[in-house]
Amino acid sequence: MSAVLAAQAPAAASVAPAASIAIVLLGTGVVGGAFLKLLNTPAAASVRLVGAANSRRQQTEPHSLASRHLREQLNNLGEPRNDTGLLAALDAGAATARVIVDATASAALAARHAEWLGRGYHVVTANKALAGGELPGWRALQAAIAQGGRYGDAATVGAGLPVLSTLRRLRRCGDALLTLEGVFSGSLSWLFNQYDGSRPFSALLREARRLGYTEPDPRSDLSGEDVARKLLIIARHAGFALGVDEVDVQGLVPEPLRALDAEAFLARLEELDEPLAELHAGARSRGNVLRFLARLNQRGRARVGLVEVPPEHPAARLYGTDNQFALTTTRYNTQPLVIQGPGAGPEVTAQALLGDVLALG
Ligand SMILES: NC(=O)c1ccc[n+]([C@@H]2O[C@H](COP(=O)([O-])OP(=O)(O)OC[C@H]3O[C@@H](n4cnc5c(N)ncnc54)[C@H](OP(=O)(O)O)[C@@H]3O)[C@@H](O)[C@H]2O)c1
Repeated sequence: MSAVLAAQAPAAASVAPAASIAIVLLGTGVVGGAFLKLLNTPAAASVRLVGAANSRRQQTEPHSLASRHLREQLNNLGEPRNDTGLLAALDAGAATARVIVDATASAALAARHAEWLGRGYHVVTANKALAGGELPGWRALQAAIAQGGRYGDAATVGAGLPVLSTLRRLRRCGDALLTLEGVFSGSLSWLFNQYDGSRPFSALLREARRLGYTEPDPRSDLSGEDVARKLLIIARHAGFALGVDEVDVQGLVPEPLRALDAEAFLARLEELDEPLAELHAGARSRGNVLRFLARLNQRGRARVGLVEVPPEHPAARLYGTDNQFALTTTRYNTQPLVIQGPGAGPEVTAQALLGDVLALG
């Protein structure tokens, strides 16, 4: 097998594009790790990794960056974190595009995106903290983009499902978003697609956590805050300049469980059961189901929370961890344009990052 590959190698090498996109990767966790794997595939032949960092350490030395054990080596061989060293690595060499890939959830790094764009770097991000954060940050980002900065954000909503790109395309054609409704969380999608009253909600939640569908502390999912950030990002793309406090978020974590440490919270999951069982029984008696929806109406009112929907509602027909985005626009106004599919997971999120990086080449 290797002989066959070796025989083919010269031809393949002669057509391989030269590495023209230099990137620095911030974050080598679940998504960053999957992205590193993609960099070793032929699809990423035009991309050269010149720096990688986790929260404590970074690496810019080519030999270490090429290692399959880069993530492990960062902690042993890496230098202490400092953005200046990473940017210097991007500046060295003759790449035609210099890209910072943010695969963290760090608000401090997100706060630098606009500045990086202003300095001529491109930014590709899975980190929602800027576009889905405070309004001044969103405005600074839009100003930097207006000055020519290029911002890859496909991974911030729907893990690369073509939501933001579709919305931008519709708006370029003069269309406008009227309303938006959907399920923007893979874990909450799975939980309510499964929840039929036959098992307590807490049992399902434990299973979802075991399957890796929730964050280690499931309150990150149940609070609805991540869904709210995605709703803000889409609403802002649609022209609604909403502030963080303008999204009405009805999370699923009862007040007494909010301040507990993660271990104590996990020991008291059964306290979620009774209120949800009541809501479920009420919905079932009317022939309906429960879904954790994000909604934006025509007046820009944004809401996130548990909603009872009839069986013919698009969200009632979801499976697994699918996300769904139903866009009603001036031209899609009889039936909504529905974008649906896996909206979480490291492989598809990493692919969304790579797609945005390659678009800059
Ligand atoms: N997982 C998914 O399916 C998914 C889907 C769509 C979007 N996202 C988004 O993608 C981002 C990453 O998610 P994840 O699941 O990969 O998280 P994760 O596994 O917790 O990884 C986060 C990484 O960011 C690093 N980091 C934190 N602060 C940093 C800093 N200042 N400089 C450099 N690195 C820093 C962490 O370093 P340490 O290892 O040192 O802590 C870690 O390597 C998040 O914004 C998430 O919302 C995730």
